[in-house]
Amino acid sequence: MGESKKSWEKRLAGQPDPLTVDFVQSLSYDTRLYKYDIVGSIAHAQMLAEQKLITKAELKAIKEGLIEISQEIAEGRFKFDKTCEDIHMAIEAALIAKIGEPGKKLHTGRSRNDQVAADIRLWMRDEIEVLQSKITGLQKAFVKLAGKYIKDVMPAYTHLQRAQPIVIAAYLLSFVEQFERDFIRLKNCGQMINISPLGSGAIAGSTLPLDRKSTAKQLGFSDISYNSIDAVADRDFCAEFIFDCALVATHLSRLAEDWIIYSSSEFGFVRIDDSYCTSSSMMPQKRNPDVLELIRAKTGSVYGSLMAMLTILKAQPSGYNRDLQEDKIHIFAASDTVRASLDMTRAIVSHTKFNTKEISAGLGEGFLDATALAEYLVRKGVAFREAHGIVGSLVAYCEKQNKKLAELDLDEFKQHCTSIETDVYENLGAANVASKYVTEGAAGPKQAKEQIAYWTGELDARCSMPDARRRGK
Ligand code: ARG
Repeated sequence: MGESKKSWEKRLAGQPDPLTVDFVQSLSYDTRLYKYDIVGSIAHAQMLAEQKLITKAELKAIKEGLIEISQEIAEGRFKFDKTCEDIHMAIEAALIAKIGEPGKKLHTGRSRNDQVAADIRLWMRDEIEVLQSKITGLQKAFVKLAGKYIKDVMPAYTHLQRAQPIVIAAYLLSFVEQFERDFIRLKNCGQMINISPLGSGAIAGSTLPLDRKSTAKQLGFSDISYNSIDAVADRDFCAEFIFDCALVATHLSRLAEDWIIYSSSEFGFVRIDDSYCTSSSMMPQKRNPDVLELIRAKTGSVYGSLMAMLTILKAQPSGYNRDLQEDKIHIFAASDTVRASLDMTRAIVSHTKFNTKEISAGLGEGFLDATALAEYLVRKGVAFREAHGIVGSLVAYCEKQNKKLAELDLDEFKQHCTSIETDVYENLGAANVASKYVTEGAAGPKQAKEQIAYWTGELDARCSMPDARRRGK
């Protein structure tokens, strides 16, 4: 191109050092914003025409040119030139090369500062929907798996020590709750970002009569920003979005950790399907849960993005600073990682089997029924603190005798507490205890069944909702 692609180059005497060209460019990673940049530019041009700042014919040429460029990029025919710096300049330069004079009017009343802020918001709005649908898919996989294990009992752990008996379904449904909070957090984030910064210009707005509400409306923003200085520099939503991704990753890592432990020979609770394991190059017997380990590890990368984003924002002087260009590296990385991990986890959950026989064979260990025995005593009129002490000494007695609580005879029980009757035996044993939970949200079969019915309805309805409702409009 004979004429400089950057109008601001007229301001500077020399050509940039090639090192500078490479260092300042964001084209290598912001190309994925191209669709949003183009729809944003079309809305901006439309508004310029409405405000008589460009003619109808110029608008037509701009629109057609932009649509062609969009097709060229989509089909891989577009020639990207890193001296254009970023996707905004690459598209504008291509438009000018294509349609000439009208192309030079597109940037009227606009700066890349408000342009990029708008593009990111538009990208994120769509990205949030993709993440939400992946979360829903994973939740459905958990609910389906839970449906297979409504009555099967497993130990619940606190401090990774055997605590109380629960049904496997309740354990699985605990993840549906965690991911539901992620879904809601992302929905809230989607509402918060749906504000148009367009028309804020470089920092102070414009002396031209721009109709900010028109561009906002065309792009489906629910409102405009109300302070141009803040609007061009606000990336709070980027930190918030990455935080939401980080919590998704946290929840995935907790599941991954559980199942890495549960699939070990020491536990033997679950069988991760062969398609999600790898073997060892040296030890022929190995079935390693590498996929789960990577899901666990990738959480660290997402936390890294969050820390990077927050650090980029810290102590920036007011207004746009080039520091903000680096936001995209981290929002894209966090989102890509979480997307991939959600897909992978959904596949694993859909193919995992619990070894119910092995689990129930080991339920006698660890006095899982001790708490229920104390509650039995409460129902017999014993104060809880006293009941706690009585059961504590019964457990110590059992350990010495090498017996389980259910194996003690009535005399042995009576020696510790005269209130214990023959009905005690219905309250002992992991399966009996799990079937006796009565509180709402408890980890028994009755509650699991109710939760499965709730989630099945809720998640099916969510999948059939039109986009607008899902976004909570
Ligand atoms: N590539 C830049 C970014 O992503 C666009 C804005 C540049 N603005 C400027 N005044 N240099 O933030």
